[in-house]
Amino acid sequence: MSTQTQDIPKVFPEAEDFLPINGTDYVELYVGNAKQAAHFYKTAFGFQSLAYSGLETGDKEKTSYVLQQGKIRLILTSPITKDSPINDHLRKHGDGVKNVALWVDDARKSFEETTKRGAEVAFEPYVINDKDGEVVLAGIKTYGETIHVFVERKNYKGTFMPGFREWKSHYNPPSAGLKYIDHMVGNVGWNEMNKWVDFYKNVMGFAQLVSFDDKDISTDYTALMSKVMTNGNGRIKFPINEPAKGKKKSQIEEYIDFYNGAGVQHIAVATDDIITTVKQLVANGVEFLYVPDTYYDDVLDRVGKIDEDLEPLSALGILIDRDDEGYLLQLFTKPVSDRPTLFFEIIQRKGAKSFGKGNFKALFEAIEREQDNRGTL
Ligand code: FE2
Repeated sequence: MSTQTQDIPKVFPEAEDFLPINGTDYVELYVGNAKQAAHFYKTAFGFQSLAYSGLETGDKEKTSYVLQQGKIRLILTSPITKDSPINDHLRKHGDGVKNVALWVDDARKSFEETTKRGAEVAFEPYVINDKDGEVVLAGIKTYGETIHVFVERKNYKGTFMPGFREWKSHYNPPSAGLKYIDHMVGNVGWNEMNKWVDFYKNVMGFAQLVSFDDKDISTDYTALMSKVMTNGNGRIKFPINEPAKGKKKSQIEEYIDFYNGAGVQHIAVATDDIITTVKQLVANGVEFLYVPDTYYDDVLDRVGKIDEDLEPLSALGILIDRDDEGYLLQLFTKPVSDRPTLFFEIIQRKGAKSFGKGNFKALFEAIEREQDNRGTL
């Protein structure tokens, strides 16, 4: 990961240059039991052990496990004392994404430029170091209690970060072929989508890629609205959802009820071979959301010719959509905790740059069936 910002072509020239971002550095989840969650993400999703911090490294408040797969780094963190503020986060939100960390060349400047434009401070820039060098961190607040951490690691050559030690495990299940985070979606409350779109536009210098209104994303019962924000090089894409009025309760509203506020709804992770990836994930016990078999009766009329045979796609329940630039294959997991909140999307892009709009209706009907089972529709 040594690519410098200036080498990265600017795909969305309308995005501003004041916050160059190289990519997602890590995503940190606060969870009730990090040790067991780490086992789940290794066993079920094929993540590898990377780094650890806790009592053994001098952290007396919390334990963190860092997992890696491709360029994706997840941190799973649990409090180990009753007074840790992480307990409050867990009581309110359950397991969920706390920090969406962005890899930058200059964390102090990223902090200055964004706070100057109105970002709320989560924490001031600070430096941590060990024998492998130094990392600079700074944090600003985004929707709900979610934080963007700016990570500057150009002067660091260790495994992950000072404060962590390498995590060598005897248990190393195979990778599932997950490569990088394609996009991360935030759910926000009623009438809040535009506020957060403006935040990403004005404070972070992002551009708006596309928007969907409740006519695009509605079924007979429920609806939502969505706008997609991207940074200048297109490596960071944050769709923002807000509930819309329908006859019954929107899935976004259900999320907000259980998460007790705005937060990350799903993390979309990319693979180069979705059939192999999903086969493996299913075998590992990952639960996916399925649309009815009738979806496949006319899907090729809608999306046209694709490279893959339809049979394995329909056997695995993989969804297909097309835009002007190509097509994409995608599938969504069920929520990964007991609260119906965070879930994952597996996506393979074959030219398409969109988000599967053609699948929304079938998908939302599948989610409504799950909501109905939960009594929350
Ligand atoms: Fe998505």
